[in-house]
Amino acid sequence: MDTLLPDALRTVSSGSWNGRPAAQQPTWPDPIALENVTGHLASSPPLVPWSECAQLRDRLAGVARGEAFLLQGGDCAETFGGVNVDAVGDKLNTLLQMSTILTYAAAIPVVKVGRLAGQYAKPRSKPTETCEGVTLPVYRGDAVNGFPFTPESRIPDPKRLLRMYQSSSDTLDWVRAFIADGNTDFRQAHEWNRAFIEGSPLGEQYEGLADRIDHTLEFMRATGARPQGFDSSGFFVSHEGLLLDYESALTRRDASTGHAYASSGHMLWIGERTRELDGAHVAYFSHIANPIGVKLGPATTADTALRLIDRLDPDRIPGRLTFITRMGKDKVRESLPPLVEAVAATGARVAWICDPMHGNTIEAPSGHKTRRFDDVLDEVRGFFEVHHELGTHPGGIHVELTGNDVTECVGGGQEIGFADLAFRYESTCDPRLNRHQSLDLAFLVADFLTETAARRRGSSKSAGCAD
Ligand code: PEP
Ligand code: CO
Repeated sequence: MDTLLPDALRTVSSGSWNGRPAAQQPTWPDPIALENVTGHLASSPPLVPWSECAQLRDRLAGVARGEAFLLQGGDCAETFGGVNVDAVGDKLNTLLQMSTILTYAAAIPVVKVGRLAGQYAKPRSKPTETCEGVTLPVYRGDAVNGFPFTPESRIPDPKRLLRMYQSSSDTLDWVRAFIADGNTDFRQAHEWNRAFIEGSPLGEQYEGLADRIDHTLEFMRATGARPQGFDSSGFFVSHEGLLLDYESALTRRDASTGHAYASSGHMLWIGERTRELDGAHVAYFSHIANPIGVKLGPATTADTALRLIDRLDPDRIPGRLTFITRMGKDKVRESLPPLVEAVAATGARVAWICDPMHGNTIEAPSGHKTRRFDDVLDEVRGFFEVHHELGTHPGGIHVELTGNDVTECVGGGQEIGFADLAFRYESTCDPRLNRHQSLDLAFLVADFLTETAARRRGSSKSAGCAD
């Protein structure tokens, strides 16, 4: 049975949380309206049960131990406007198709986590934006204000937090129905991958892996066996826990364990811009027992990483803490090793995940924010190189993607160019890999994972030697 938290954990006022400075919070214009909204949220049912959060934590413990791989992906910013059933379905299918490819290559289970059902608030690098001489407050995600570039729409409205709750709840309902209807079947995902290969300019490159997956599925069908990793169960949701008014109001205490948890999603992460050690987000996250992530950019020092572990995972709970590194393709090979080495030296076990998106954003000649597919792939390659070199586990990827044929990132098998960006650019924030680019990425990352699996087999053989 869930009980509400004591008031002390729910005290929020613009700019601070329990006396700690809270970065990137909206200035809500009407405190009474905000209080009404948070009061309503505080008495609303949890969106996810604690038992599922604990289940994900256990799966992530497997990632930290090197026995599983995490695939985390979805929109940069979800938007309101009713659940787009097709778009969410396409996104889930894309993630499931990717996970089939990665599972086979990794030969270990793939933990599937959407950036989904809660990803409605965005940290921004500037508080305002200027367009044709007009300066307005920046768009901070549908949870805060509106995307249209008008003064009215850019005013933060706390009632949007109620819509965030409702949209998250509706999306989750649809995800649950989708999974319950058996759509996670590997065979079906593989058939879709086959269709993708046929239509893909890079298809020939992927044939060998697809053939090997065919044989494995044939073997499963014939024998009823389930090779290692082929476990289609479980799909979890995650978002950046940015808005402390929202997250605090949805924090519940599990009466049976006494643990507080964020009931807004299974996993929450702290963004690169809000992870100050003495800031409000780190303080809030230290109170909740969910599995959590922290984004680490190229300026992160080893000392900061170690202090974050001490603050956020003082009891060293397996699966509790995931570091999501987003270094950029030019920096990953030099910025990541000192962090991984320092953490490994303490014996702390975190899951290391690569976000190859946020360090590789560029501006196209048209002014669109975009990313080059090859840069994204190169950061993932660098991430694997570092972990292989250090003998640590490259635990997963965190990708901004959609299941639709948008044109937001350039490159990939379809060779989307700068001139194509205007054709179908739909993101309200960062550019996402489209369905083709996402599957291209999975097939190409599969090569890196095959090497990881070979190294793992090699090291377990030598660990077994009795000399
Ligand atoms: C994001 O994940 O959309 C994001 C803003 O990331 P970061 O905190 O790494 O910049
Ligand atoms: Co983003």
